[in-house]
Amino acid sequence: MTESLTVRDNRTGQEYDVPITDGTIRAADLGKIKTDDETPGLAVYDPGFVNTASCRSSVTYIDGDKGILEYRGYPIEQLAEHSSFLEVAYLLIHGHLPSEEEHDAWVHEITYHTFVHENVKTFMQGFRYDAHPMGMLMASTGALSTFYPESRDISDEQNRHMQMVRMIAKMPTLGAWAFRHAQGKPYVYPDNDLSYTGNFLSMLFKMSESKFEADPRLVKALDTLFILHADHEQNCSTNAVRSVGSSQVDPYSAVAAGVGALYGPLHGGANEAVLRMLKRIGSKENIPAFIEGVKAGNERLMGFGHRVYKNFDPRATIIKKACDDVFEVTGVNPLLEIAKELEKIALEDEYFVKRKLYPNVDFYSGLIYEAFQFPPEMFTVLFAIGRTPGWLAQWSELVTDKEQKIARPKQIYTGDRTLQFTPASQRWA
Ligand SMILES: CC(C)(COP(=O)(O)OP(=O)(O)OC[C@H]1O[C@@H](n2cnc3c(N)ncnc32)[C@H](O)[C@@H]1OP(=O)(O)O)[C@@H](O)C(=O)NCCC(=O)NCCS
Repeated sequence: MTESLTVRDNRTGQEYDVPITDGTIRAADLGKIKTDDETPGLAVYDPGFVNTASCRSSVTYIDGDKGILEYRGYPIEQLAEHSSFLEVAYLLIHGHLPSEEEHDAWVHEITYHTFVHENVKTFMQGFRYDAHPMGMLMASTGALSTFYPESRDISDEQNRHMQMVRMIAKMPTLGAWAFRHAQGKPYVYPDNDLSYTGNFLSMLFKMSESKFEADPRLVKALDTLFILHADHEQNCSTNAVRSVGSSQVDPYSAVAAGVGALYGPLHGGANEAVLRMLKRIGSKENIPAFIEGVKAGNERLMGFGHRVYKNFDPRATIIKKACDDVFEVTGVNPLLEIAKELEKIALEDEYFVKRKLYPNVDFYSGLIYEAFQFPPEMFTVLFAIGRTPGWLAQWSELVTDKEQKIARPKQIYTGDRTLQFTPASQRWA
């Protein structure tokens, strides 16, 4: 039996059968509900798309109530523990795990595309000394489209593949150079002998030594953080990539839009806010008073709560473990003690239990990034590097989806109409 919804329009008394597929109705079917042929059909008003599916996707599955996150059907916990970021990138983009041959070819391709054109370097050097690294990343990602004009031919599969490889490969180079720029240090070229994440750390921190090899525990921890951030279905930046990509622009421009969306404090900036909060609390003795302030509604406990995850954020559990690994190398950040105590108290407090507020991915990630000596402005750049394969997997799905159209929402017009224009010479006379 086909599922359907019967809608009665009380304005006309007419009834409509609207088919239900996969728990959704088609907005276009509501458009058939009209009072007469002259007026537009019924539409849905949904600021922020809180209850609107914009696409069919087989990339990422989330069940917020159960704390499930899966990439292409594989649980995030298993990928974080046993896979690598590049293997996960392959999985997200191709939809299946690579064979050994496919994996080696993929890693080779990405490794050999980490260099950027020298003019990209000159372009980045043109930024002011205190430019925000996310602004630099957004601009330089978009600028890549001018270096690869063939990227506009998005109908060619081979061509799409090449641009995706380039983008995953070059993002760490652009991110590291944005970091070095703020420090007034020379940009470091990629080292193709190193792993993806090892090379990124080398481009960030290499000084006069002939080779920079980070502690493998740090490389592993950062690689895991990249895996945890690699995709999160239709969030704000992914929606930006899809929306801009729906105009059939090249993928560099679409991903630059994603970087722009991530730049915003409501999306990529929460871990920085956690760090500021922990510093302000200062010591364990101040926690009870802080919690009372949160419960009184004076402020929020940053890094707690999530729009989707209502029992736990599976990424938070993995990050907590990565925290221990990182601090084994760098020494414990004194803020960790405050964070752990805060978490313990909050998880037992009725206010947080009742509202299903649990630590999210950002509660611990800021602490890890600080242990790496990243300034807070860099946190979102790290997020962007991790999210790039997700954005590209979603973009690739979009451009091959026959049902997709240029993104063009409706509006409810609230302004004036049919005013008569009087020229300025008469209005100001
Ligand atoms: C993530 C977040 C925006 C989700 O918001 P949401 O799903 O819209 O939840 P709501 O804002 O409707 O909150 C529901 C209730 O929990 C409370 N609440 C939510 N997050 C809270 C927090 N971090 N600290 C204290 N109270 C919180 C709200 O005050 C509200 O209480 P009420 O029912 O008494 O009014 C929100 O939890 C938040 O601001 N968290 C802190 C910022 C953060 O860590 N963001 C990163 C997300 S990855």
